[in-house]
Amino acid sequence: MKAYNKTPGALALLLASLAGISMTVEAQLAKPAVKLTAAQSLEKLRSMKYEGLGFPDFGFMVTPAEYRSTYSDQPIFKLKTDFPKKLPSKKPDFLDIDFQKEPLKYIEAVRAYAFEGNVIGNSDPNVPNDGTSGDNWNPFLNKSAQWYHIPWLHMTPPSGFPPNGGTEGFRGFIKEAPISRYQLGPDQLSDDYSVYAITLVNDFAGYSMGKMWGDPQMPDVTVLDKRFPGGGFPIGTVFAKLLFTDAPETSKGDKVDYLETNPLTWKGYITKDWNSPTRIVKDLHLLQMDISVRDARADQPGLSGWVFGTFVYNGKVGNPNRFMNLVPSGLMWGNDPQVNAPNQVINAPNLYEPFKKPVTKTTVNPDLKQSVIFADQKHLPPQHLGYGNRLNGPADLTTSSCMSCHNAAQFPQIAPLVAIQTGIKPSDPKWMDFFKNIPCGKASDPNGYSTDFSFQVAMALTNFFQAKSEALQGQWSGEYIASELPIHRAGPDDVKKAAQAHEK
Ligand code: HEC
Repeated sequence: MKAYNKTPGALALLLASLAGISMTVEAQLAKPAVKLTAAQSLEKLRSMKYEGLGFPDFGFMVTPAEYRSTYSDQPIFKLKTDFPKKLPSKKPDFLDIDFQKEPLKYIEAVRAYAFEGNVIGNSDPNVPNDGTSGDNWNPFLNKSAQWYHIPWLHMTPPSGFPPNGGTEGFRGFIKEAPISRYQLGPDQLSDDYSVYAITLVNDFAGYSMGKMWGDPQMPDVTVLDKRFPGGGFPIGTVFAKLLFTDAPETSKGDKVDYLETNPLTWKGYITKDWNSPTRIVKDLHLLQMDISVRDARADQPGLSGWVFGTFVYNGKVGNPNRFMNLVPSGLMWGNDPQVNAPNQVINAPNLYEPFKKPVTKTTVNPDLKQSVIFADQKHLPPQHLGYGNRLNGPADLTTSSCMSCHNAAQFPQIAPLVAIQTGIKPSDPKWMDFFKNIPCGKASDPNGYSTDFSFQVAMALTNFFQAKSEALQGQWSGEYIASELPIHRAGPDDVKKAAQAHEK
């Protein structure tokens, strides 16, 4: 594996963590004494015991002194990984709703389920909540439901994707994707914006993560692969992911009206721009929410067992509870493997220059039967969607779809995520291989373990083994069996390269 050499400090911390030692003790002794209340002392002792588990909370943060002098009104992200040991008994109520017959009702119920206890005011649109409080999306404070984080996302190996990635320390944001000119609307002219995201997983997913990370120093990589007993996430698994962007900056003359009106804004310690190695504190606005659900009704032959859905933020909806300004955009339970989009006529505006012209209207492809786009939602900003107008969010490209990308998730990542990275053209029959319905828990390339549609898990395992290999200064024979790809979600550069190849 490639060397993981972030900083000598990071390596020392890692070695300490691999040895199961709490890494804060030395640092704490070196600090001048601060007077803590009895409750704070207890909390500190608890967290030190917790840190001994070996999962760092985040990878990038302002210094403690800067935090105390300038940002003490901001939350500090803490990773929640006290996964349940038993499979939860109560499945989410929304599983009673038929996602094919009542897709809008289903996706709204998933939103309510994800907000319960995680959002101040839950899903009541009338409870005033501008979103800024750190009490939102903090699973430690949820009194009615158990939610968790996926560990080991704090770093990206030097050869990995995204550049200078890894999670930050205010909100736990992971660096996600670049934004191109016009991607978010006609008045978004600059193209150096980025997307950052933070995902919570429910107790069903948490149960699988407990099995995988039961020994934090040696994850069980078989847990999500159907070839092994009990492999795969259980029915009832829910992921809920909030995506934020630093667009638009008015100083650049940019406007994205649905993000600027009543924005839901968090601070993040993010890279200056997509390729920059330098981190700064910047405002990020809620843009999108993605959900994925392991639903038994999607286990029908020919489907994959998962349902994916997305919401787009529109502040013009004007709900006092700003989280409720997330407007349903679409739901998909399959890739419609039979439906190609010849010559990309359906794909507004163009596959290889996806954002050449801004999208002014959401176009529905009537041939798609395994997804629904809520184009008639009054408040849905115009969506560019995915390939052949399959479901994709504003943060995604027009060359794939939620499920087309996610069904590739595995460890090690041998299968490519999107067709455009492989040089294949839509006219090539191999293009449609990317739009198959792969069953859950089935490895997209049999030489890797399935991570059951979860890229966070695929990334976590990649990061863990890269770091462990570096810390132990050794390699494993298995690494030589199949070559590994970075978990690369494709960006404007890939599209440009594909366009050049297309012209040839
Ligand atoms: C081109 C690839 C790609 C596309 C398209 C894509 N995703 Fe993802 N998704 C990722 C990657 C990589 C991650 C892991 C990094 C992160 O958390 O952001 C991820 C993370 C997630 C997660 C967190 C759970 C997990 O580990 O996978 C959810 C939920 C999710 N995506 C839903 C969606 C939905 C819904 C869509 C469509 C609207 C979508 N994704 C489109 C690549 C993609």
